[in-house]
Amino acid sequence: MNPRQVFLSVLVFGVAGLLLFMYLQVWIEEQHPGRRESSQSSPRPMSREKIQEEIINQGPSRLVPEEPEKKNKLHETKSLLKQFSQMNLPPDTRPLNKSFIHDDKWKTTDSDQERRRSLLHDFCRKHGSGNHLRTHLTHLVSRIYVEDRHKILYCEVPKAGCSNWKRILMVLNGLASSAYDITHDAVHYGKYLKKLDSFDLKGIYTRLNTYTKAVFVRDPMERLVSAFRDKFEHPNSYYHPVFGKAIIKKYRPNVCGEALNNGSGVKFQEFIHYLLDAQRPVGMDIHWEQVSKLCYPCLINYDFVGKFETLEQDANYFLQLIGAPKELKFPNFKDRHSSDERTNAGVVRQYLRELSSSERQLTYDFYYLDYLMFNYTAPSL
Ligand SMILES: *[C@@H]1O[C@H](CO)[C@@H](O)[C@H](O)[C@H]1NC(C)=O
Ligand SMILES: *[C@@H]1O[C@H](CO)[C@@H](O)[C@H](O)[C@H]1NC(C)=O
Ligand SMILES: *[C@@H]1O[C@H](CO)[C@@H](O)[C@H](O)[C@H]1NC(C)=O
Repeated sequence: MNPRQVFLSVLVFGVAGLLLFMYLQVWIEEQHPGRRESSQSSPRPMSREKIQEEIINQGPSRLVPEEPEKKNKLHETKSLLKQFSQMNLPPDTRPLNKSFIHDDKWKTTDSDQERRRSLLHDFCRKHGSGNHLRTHLTHLVSRIYVEDRHKILYCEVPKAGCSNWKRILMVLNGLASSAYDITHDAVHYGKYLKKLDSFDLKGIYTRLNTYTKAVFVRDPMERLVSAFRDKFEHPNSYYHPVFGKAIIKKYRPNVCGEALNNGSGVKFQEFIHYLLDAQRPVGMDIHWEQVSKLCYPCLINYDFVGKFETLEQDANYFLQLIGAPKELKFPNFKDRHSSDERTNAGVVRQYLRELSSSERQLTYDFYYLDYLMFNYTAPSL
C-alpha cells in the first residue's frame, strides 16, 4: 500500500466507525425510552404543588420484577402514543348504559357510582388536561384485563379484591363454571386471562373506546397495611428474600451478620423507610404502587369506579350493568391467610402508631393522588 491508500483506508474506517457509533447510540436510546423520566419520577413523595405536573408526566416507577419490553411493538407504540396524546385526554365521560337495570335496590349504589365518576372526572379535568403523555401506551394498559364476551376492561389493583375479580372474569369468559372452583394459583399464575397490552394497537384502541372500563380501589393506608401483612408477616419465598433482605440490610441498625438475615421479620416502620426512600435498594411492587400509577385513572377514563369498602354491592351492580347472568354473584371469600383479621381501620391505626408523625405525613403524601382521585379521607389516629 502506498501512503495515499493508507490514508484513504484510515479515513473510510474512521467514517464507518463514527456512523456505527451514532447508529448504536440511537438504537440504545430507542431500546430504553423513558429511562430518564422514570429515574426522576419514581421515589419522590408527592408535594401538593406538583400534582398537576405528576399527572401530566406520569411515568412508570421501577417495578420489581421488571417486565420485558415488547421491542417489536416499540415503533407502533410510539406512533399510537402520539395519536393518543393528541386526543384531548381525558375524553368526556360516557354515561353508564343502564338498560339492564330494572330494580330499585341499586339506587344508592348507583348514585354513589355517579358521584365517584364525576369527582374523578372533575379532578382530572382540573389537574390533568395537559396532554404531554410521557409513557408508553402498552405500559399504560399493562395492568388491564380483558373480557371480550361482555366487553369489559378491568384494571387490577392488588389488595382491593382483585383475586375475586379475576375469578369473575374467568367465569364470564367461560373458562370456569363457578368462581368458587378456581384456586388462588390458577387465578394468579394460570395465565388464562388476557391483558390489554397483548393485543395489537388497533385492538387496544378499539377496546379502550368501546368496552366498559372498571377500576376497583381501596383506602390507600388500608391497602398498604394489607400488603405489608400479606407479604411480610407470613412466610413468603419471594418477598422475604427479594424485598425483606434488602430492607433489613439497609434500614435495620446493627443487623448481626448478613448470613443470619433471611429476610423474615421486616417491621412496618422499616418497610415505610424503604417506601419513602429516594434511593430504594429494591424497586416498587404492584402491591404498594399507587393506583394512579397502576391504572392511570386520568388517562384511561374509567366508566366505573368501585371501592373495596363497598365491594359486594359495587361488584354486583357492575355485573348487572354489563348484563352478566342473574345467578352470578361476586364471591366474598378471602383466600389467603383467611384466619387473619381483615385489615380494617382499627388494624391500620395500630400499624400507623408505630410510625412518627412525619413518617405518617410522608406516607400520606406518597398516596396523595389516590386520596384525591377517589375521595378518601386522611387517616387519623
Ligand atoms: C345499552 O345496552 C343495550 C344492551 O346491550 C344495547 O342494546 C343498547 O344499544 C345500549 N345503549 C347505548 C346507548 O349504547
Ligand atoms: C429467619 O431467621 C430468623 C432469625 O435468624 C429465624 O427466627 C427464622 O425462623 C428464620 N426464618 C426462616 C424461614 O428461615
Ligand atoms: C367525599 O367524601 C366525603 C366524606 O366521606 C363525603 O362527605 C363527600 O360527599 C364525598 N364527596 C363526593 C363528591 O362524593
